[in-house]
Amino acid sequence: MIHLRPAAAQEIQRLLQSSSHHHGLRIHLQPSDCAEWSYDLSPAQGVNPDDTTFQVGALQIVMAESMRPLLNDLTIDYAEDLMGGGFRFINPQARQTCGCGNAFSVTTTAATVEDCHAVAETAH
Ligand code: FES
Repeated sequence: MIHLRPAAAQEIQRLLQSSSHHHGLRIHLQPSDCAEWSYDLSPAQGVNPDDTTFQVGALQIVMAESMRPLLNDLTIDYAEDLMGGGFRFINPQARQTCGCGNAFSVTTTAATVEDCHAVAETAH
């Protein structure tokens, strides 16, 4: 199950309105230099046979079934600060989270937070 805080649901709906044809929100994980995985949110262009879907309010969320153990009970929030707006991820499966919060590890053997900051300074 995926949880959306109201601010995140509102921002996702706003972003999806700019995509003319979609099947909801796709949540994907990509390998990250800052930790094991980074979150990727995009309009779902389709639902594949190996996908799983969740209905959260009026929004359909799509993800690969293989990602489910890494994203189980993920909460997505959205907040704005002086640096701009951004999604916040609260993932109970994460053992470590990078400095910006967009990448996480499910093991403690991945890059440490200090390593992550060093990578972030050179990569961002
Ligand atoms: S993804 Fe690079 S510091 Fe978070």
